[in-house]
Amino acid sequence: MKRMTRVGLITSGGDCQGLNAAIRGVGKALLQYVDNVEIFGMRDGYRGLIECDYDFMEPRAFSGILTEGGTILGTSRQPYIPGKAIVDEDGNNVMPAMLDTYNRLNLDCLVVMGGNGTQKSAKLLMDAGMNVITLPKTIDNDIYGTDITFGFQSAVDIASNVIDYIHSTASSHSRTFLVELMGRDAGWLTLHAGISSGADIILLPEIPYDIDKVVAGIEHRRRSGRNFTIIAVAEGAVPKNAANLSEEERRRQKESDSHVPVSYRLAEQLEKITGQEARVTIPGHYQRGGPPCPYDRVLATQFGTAAARLIRQKQYGRMVGMRDGEIISIPLADAASRTKFLPVDHPLIQTARDVGIFFGD
Ligand code: F6P
Repeated sequence: MKRMTRVGLITSGGDCQGLNAAIRGVGKALLQYVDNVEIFGMRDGYRGLIECDYDFMEPRAFSGILTEGGTILGTSRQPYIPGKAIVDEDGNNVMPAMLDTYNRLNLDCLVVMGGNGTQKSAKLLMDAGMNVITLPKTIDNDIYGTDITFGFQSAVDIASNVIDYIHSTASSHSRTFLVELMGRDAGWLTLHAGISSGADIILLPEIPYDIDKVVAGIEHRRRSGRNFTIIAVAEGAVPKNAANLSEEERRRQKESDSHVPVSYRLAEQLEKITGQEARVTIPGHYQRGGPPCPYDRVLATQFGTAAARLIRQKQYGRMVGMRDGEIISIPLADAASRTKFLPVDHPLIQTARDVGIFFGD
């Protein structure tokens, strides 16, 4: 009898919309195109691989999950030392345990669905000798080598909806509103949501803001007869005076701010300077919840089925992605090599400026 092909599935890091659609895409295509395939769902991200905790996935496991939010496999954040090791909470190297599970289950390949950190740690699995294929998922859209990640568009929809709803209350009360959006140190989500919902000012990590310029933006609106201002603030937005700090100095400054979200600090400053009320709305993890939007269902299905094709061709060590509308795959080593920040000369930033949006610069 022909040898079995044994594939492990892992969802790792923060969840997002479209994970189940991707799992379904991998599973359905594998079952259809690869003979004698067995699929193992590792539970709760890398923890399942470390502790050999998994579910054997029957074909029916891949049905009825296309539109479900979250991940049926569970997920977790696993600490790692960039370029060096995946570790546990006490700093112990967990690679031997992961290798042990991989060998014990006699796996041919792991399909790892994750964000930036997960791409980097998946590269470590590959370096340790495992066959790995990764899929790019994150609401942050900050993975190098792909134009878009699944989860991003769903989060843009939610974030835009939040700003849409804030408009009426901001207008009724003649207030300034700061809506703080996720995205870590990348501004993709805030830029897209800000443009799509007509924010007046957008503050991004990649364009450090000058508080006086933000005030000037609010004053400009007031002078032109608008009684409210909506500021879309990326959670990683930084003031100009902090932009030149080293990563370590920024980390220390964040700690000394006792993790107060940037928009609360900014709102306080703006109220003091303008004398106008400023309010803050932070949708937080709401941006990552609920069903994937149709775009993400399609994208995650494309990515998942592309991973199955790579397995069929025994092409490992690659991340699936999208470039110029085409599904592609690139070496995992490239995908894990850097973060895809928003280029400051990105055409969308000009588009925003063209419709009068301020960036506080
Ligand atoms: O990377 C996805 C993300 O949602 C970021 O936008 C956010 O900064 C972070 O995860 C939140 O992490 P956690 O879910 O661990 O609080």
